[in-house]
Amino acid sequence: MENIHPIFDTILPREEREKLLKQKGAVIWMVGLSGSGKSTLARGLEHELHKKGHLTQLLDGDNLRTGVNNNLGFSEEDRLENIRRAAEVSKLFAQCGIVTICSLISPTEEIRDMAKEIIGEDDFHVVYINAPFEVCAQRDVKGLYKKAMNGEIKNFTGLDSPFEAPVNPFKEIRTDQQSLEESEQELLDAVLPIITLK
Ligand code: ADX
Repeated sequence: MENIHPIFDTILPREEREKLLKQKGAVIWMVGLSGSGKSTLARGLEHELHKKGHLTQLLDGDNLRTGVNNNLGFSEEDRLENIRRAAEVSKLFAQCGIVTICSLISPTEEIRDMAKEIIGEDDFHVVYINAPFEVCAQRDVKGLYKKAMNGEIKNFTGLDSPFEAPVNPFKEIRTDQQSLEESEQELLDAVLPIITLK
């Protein structure tokens, strides 16, 4: 890029911020169908980490789409841009030593690979919140599945827009096979070791 002069070398090292916060920065990237339980588990995780004295930031797809991503829809191109921006923002938080919990469908390997590329492999932890399409449609917390099946919403993930299960996620949680409390505990147990400063 011409005429752009980033100043990375004068920025306070990340380790100093992590020492201050007594934790390691990381991005917990929660992936899954709408209604799979991503946002619920992300909020639960944030709450538990806060109680343990950790500084967190929650980035939720629906919320980001009311602000920084409010000009984007659900075409493949727009989803890619949605994730690109979310990943860039997450990277800033993680480099600040903050435990950044992201809740975005992130439907394809291509999209997740881009996020990994931006954030960096060491900080990027994909958690696959897995519940079958039929279960999510049955739950239909937001009433979107009904609308999508009636043709009122186009490009709906899992219906007329693809969802590819992540290959080798950091953690997979089957929300249709256990209680919310069990899922929350499983997630917390997976996350604590990676944010603990040695
Ligand atoms: S992503 O595919 O670009 O990662 P994101 O997580 O930001 O999606 O947004 C998904 C949320 O948008 C869903 O939880 C749902 O509330 C809402 N939504 C609205 N239209 C759609 C659609 N066509 N497909 C999926 N989710 C949709």
